[in-house]
Amino acid sequence: MRQVHIREVGPRDGLQNARSRMDTEAKKRWISALAEAGFEEIEVGSFVPPKVVPAMADTAEVAAHARTIPNLRVVALAPNVKGFERALAAGVHKVTFPVSASRLHSEANVRMTPQEMVAQVKACVGLRGANGPAIEAAISTAFGCTLQGEVPEDEVLRLAVALAEAGVDCVALADTVGYANPGQVRRLFRRVRAEIGARLESAHFHDTRGLGLANALAAYDEGLRHFDAALAGLGGCPFAPGASGNVVTEDLVFMFESMGVATGVDLDRLLAARRILAEALPQEPLYGHTAAAGLPKNFHPAS
Ligand code: COA
Ligand code: ZN
Repeated sequence: MRQVHIREVGPRDGLQNARSRMDTEAKKRWISALAEAGFEEIEVGSFVPPKVVPAMADTAEVAAHARTIPNLRVVALAPNVKGFERALAAGVHKVTFPVSASRLHSEANVRMTPQEMVAQVKACVGLRGANGPAIEAAISTAFGCTLQGEVPEDEVLRLAVALAEAGVDCVALADTVGYANPGQVRRLFRRVRAEIGARLESAHFHDTRGLGLANALAAYDEGLRHFDAALAGLGGCPFAPGASGNVVTEDLVFMFESMGVATGVDLDRLLAARRILAEALPQEPLYGHTAAAGLPKNFHPAS
């Protein structure tokens, strides 16, 4: 029984910002090793133009491999209708759209205003058909933006309501550039939930200023049970200056498991997946306290 759901996003958020390219076969091996560690959901890539993010050019092939793994929900990012059509053709189980609350980040990232992005998402909800994938909208830069600075909370609320009205299944709040603090996390999750209820499902934190775990715990205390994280703290948006890695999966799993909160993820197997990553991307700095220090002798997993 999982008490929290951690989605590994390294193959997408991590590799889109890595110093070197991971080849397709290594991506497949890595995703298989991650699935063996126990993730029920992995974000395997994005359907964006290869010219925009070359590291994601092979997402269709990677997704086809991931779909052969039993009991794994395969998630991919799409920025527009064209990306969604490619995701449909690839047969992924869930598509996530980046919808920035900062107009400047939205224009830099997807060359659309937030309102235009909502219209793209709404068109995709209309296109998906009865057996289509689940649709998530991740509100990027929800806690602040390196291009715009302040992102008004009311703007995030308006966007969450517009996305719920557009028919998305779930909404995530994303701290794309690592600006969030736990007090802000509590307040914003509470305010957005008051507007859209259980459709507010998940949290996506970056650890740019070392507050990733504190923010995740704050969201957990507010009742949130779905979290994104990247193995070894890879990650970052190439179109958000100063963006750095996601919250480290190993440390997030360790935090919850040591609290007695079951994640369904096996830490030893997670460290095995980390070794595959280290071999495939030897130049990439790998972060994480749990991997560096090892598990304490008195550690007992919750699951
Ligand atoms: N996948 C593949 N090709 C796509 C595409 C997609 N999702 N969307 C557009 N294209 C193609 C178009 O067909 C067109 O091709 P052509 O030149 O051969 O006719 C070309 O790309 C330009 O299309 P256009 O709609 O004008 O796109 P754009 O140049 O305005 O870029 C996005 C808009 C959304 C495609 C681009 O900004 C993007 O991919 N952003 C996401 C960046 C990202 O991954 N950020 C990190 C994750 S949050
Ligand atoms: Zn991110």
